[in-house]
Amino acid sequence: MNTEIKLSQKLDQNDQLKNFKKEFINNNNEIYLDGNSLGKLPILSKIKIKNVVENEWGNSLIRGWNDSWLEMVDRVSCKLEKLFNASKNEIIIGESTSVYLYQVLSSLLNSNKYKHHFISDNLNFPSDLYIINGICKEKKGPTSVIVDYESDIEANLEMLKNSIKNKPGIICLSLVSYKSSWIYPMKELNNWALSHNSIIVWDLSHAAGVVHIDLKKTNTHVAVGCTYKFLNGGPGSPAYLYIKTDLLKSLQNPINGWFGHSNPFSFSEDFDQDKGIKRFSNGTPSILSITPIEIGVDLVLKAGIKSIEAKSKKQSEYLKNLIIKFLIPLGFKLESPVNCLNRGSHISISHSESWRICKSLQTGTIKIIPDYRPPKYIRLGISPLYTSFEDLTKTVFKLAEIVKNKEYLKYSKERPRVT
Ligand SMILES: Cc1ncc(COP(=O)(O)O)c(C=O)c1O
Repeated sequence: MNTEIKLSQKLDQNDQLKNFKKEFINNNNEIYLDGNSLGKLPILSKIKIKNVVENEWGNSLIRGWNDSWLEMVDRVSCKLEKLFNASKNEIIIGESTSVYLYQVLSSLLNSNKYKHHFISDNLNFPSDLYIINGICKEKKGPTSVIVDYESDIEANLEMLKNSIKNKPGIICLSLVSYKSSWIYPMKELNNWALSHNSIIVWDLSHAAGVVHIDLKKTNTHVAVGCTYKFLNGGPGSPAYLYIKTDLLKSLQNPINGWFGHSNPFSFSEDFDQDKGIKRFSNGTPSILSITPIEIGVDLVLKAGIKSIEAKSKKQSEYLKNLIIKFLIPLGFKLESPVNCLNRGSHISISHSESWRICKSLQTGTIKIIPDYRPPKYIRLGISPLYTSFEDLTKTVFKLAEIVKNKEYLKYSKERPRVT
């Protein structure tokens, strides 16, 4: 045990990103492994939000829009374009991932460029699947197929490709699966889809901020994703929508809100859709919620996404090896792909007592915050900007102790509303 702790401390000393941890609010005696659900609060965000509330809202009032707010929204979009290597005016922020997904899937359907058929898979996030099925019901024409790989861990790419080939249309996939962390070969699948008269809408939620995503090089046409996980934008911080310029021309926003108008403040009677990506805006942007996104994205840009991804892979491999050595013999199962090239930045494990083990982890001298996903998944999220190798080692040892000493028996099987 001591050997592992010493080794992890050495790895932390040599970590080039180690100084980023102090940019965040870190609770004492707590190891936070839930950045894949809600990232930590950057210190600067706390200061910036206070300033926006007290000075900009408090003093500037309505003048805030012209003084800085509208410009700030555009600036954050530009920073996301830089992070994902998109062109100018290809990304907007403002709605939730679910709303953007609804807008863009409906709009692709209405464009009649693609067959009215949706494909997704059993690794995708439930909200994405609800939206697809909801659109099929609403429009009463489109069909959908949820490809079932009979595995919650890995996609079967042959099955997926055959499904696209046999019934082309609009495909929706989460680049990193929320359960197992499986990551798809983005470019290969985009090219396959395009050569079969299909298009993939990527949900980047679990990848943004930890996976190096190049929207141009991967030939991506549409993507959405949230900012509150590894981008540390805060609870419910708005999502982004990316649409490649060439495609945008043929798409209309199904919601004609005034912020999608070419000149919202003309208050014209007729709706004149914006020429660019802003046509997918709907209403007034949430300034208080968008403000911290900029700080989170700045930190990722400063650290460099390639360095973050490299550390994530190294930590993920380190954690997997500890799991195999110390936890599998105690009845845990690895619920993520074995090869780190097929994983995003979290590792899922399971145990017959997963829920009570999660409860147990959160108590004691060092509290460890994992993420639980029913029916059995304990997700351990690695946020390279603030997760250390020592955090991972201590987590594995605490998990082992909880099971060896049956500490979980002290906790009830009941679960709260948010897990
Ligand atoms: C992969 C994925 N897609 C979509 C969503 C839903 O995002 P939102 O709440 O912004 O609609 C989530 C939420 O966690 C998610 O993990």
